[in-house]
Amino acid sequence: MKSLTINTPSCDSTIYCGNGAFAERTSLLKDKRLFIVTDSNVYRLYKSHIESAFGNSPVHVIPAGERSKNYRQLLNILSAMLKAGVTRSSIVVAFGGGVVGDIAGLAAALYMRGVHLVQIPTTLLSQVDSSVGGKTAVDFEGVKNIIGAFYQPSEVIVDPLFLRTLPRRELRCGLGEIIKYGALDEGIYKSLVKNKNKLFSEEFMEGITYDCIAHKAAVVCADERDTGGQRKTLNLGHTTGHAFELYYKRKSHGEFVLIGMYYEIYIAKKLGLCDTAYADILIDLIKRVIKNIPVYDDAQKAAQFAKFDKKNAEVSHISLIAPQSVGRSQEITLPAERYCALIAECSRSIKENIK
Ligand SMILES: NC(=O)c1ccc[n+]([C@@H]2O[C@H](COP(=O)([O-])OP(=O)(O)OC[C@H]3O[C@@H](n4cnc5c(N)ncnc54)[C@H](O)[C@@H]3O)[C@@H](O)[C@H]2O)c1
Ligand SMILES: [Zn+2]
Repeated sequence: MKSLTINTPSCDSTIYCGNGAFAERTSLLKDKRLFIVTDSNVYRLYKSHIESAFGNSPVHVIPAGERSKNYRQLLNILSAMLKAGVTRSSIVVAFGGGVVGDIAGLAAALYMRGVHLVQIPTTLLSQVDSSVGGKTAVDFEGVKNIIGAFYQPSEVIVDPLFLRTLPRRELRCGLGEIIKYGALDEGIYKSLVKNKNKLFSEEFMEGITYDCIAHKAAVVCADERDTGGQRKTLNLGHTTGHAFELYYKRKSHGEFVLIGMYYEIYIAKKLGLCDTAYADILIDLIKRVIKNIPVYDDAQKAAQFAKFDKKNAEVSHISLIAPQSVGRSQEITLPAERYCALIAECSRSIKENIK
């Protein structure tokens, strides 16, 4: 088991990662006052793990899926915490994917102005990304993550044990964020290229998880509150990914990140910002994970939705992170019409390749 600590002004957050992390770390929580939040799928699959690790601690189960990331479920959690007699010395344990982590994290931040939080991520996406770094949120009025707080978990327990029950689609979502790290970090990129034929293997995922966490930890240490620019780089693929998310709805966050990266790499290449051979390798990695990249029929809508993105200071412009060469990327800002034209062009090139 490896570990690393994120030192931020608000809290030190230690991440324990590797086989056996769940058994070893939860054995130290046994005597504490705990409140567990999980979702219906995870509870069904891991009820016995929850019972053996946390004994009779209260367990609050939310329905599985993004639709639960709302303020009604948040209030239900807070109300259950109150009924269970959660105090300042209690620990909220978020046991599940990114949805559970985000909503339980926000509940922990709000209750009594903050109680201890332990994240136990059970999806690949939450292990490599959402459980680390202290961003918590719920969706509101159709806008993703618009109500939230920065709230660091005191501990994150990352055990590959849970990945064995993950459907392939969820592995694909996690690989979306992993390829994003690959476009930012030379070591992760090399590892992806070396293992391109076994991206879905347990062995690859176990190895790469820690590297992704280490990359994110370094970024969070430098820019915890997303104000210095470093943390923005983690949004690579997300401007266009979120635009697709609002348009298509059907897919999951990680799949939209893959799609968003495909379009944004195309844009970076077209603008002459990204080395062509490098862009082609990134595209090849994306296509190994997601076969069909959807076409954005309504490019005007894409620009309109991309404008909703929280990162954009001016609504007439759209900013995104453009990959340049191995380990290098830059933030670019485009007039909405230019962005719109490039999305339409990329969509046309996809259509022509399908023919
Ligand atoms: N806070 C952050 O920094 C951050 C970063 C990235 C993404 N996110 C958020 O994370 C969410 C996506 O997270 P996610 O992809 O983990 O989604 P999720 O939590 O909805 O989990 C995906 C599905 O997998 C199931 N599941 C969870 N663990 C399982 C297991 N071990 N075996 C089988 N099934 C399992 C869940 O029940 C769910 O159906 C989005 O809401 C996104 O906005 C947050
Ligand atoms: Zn993401």
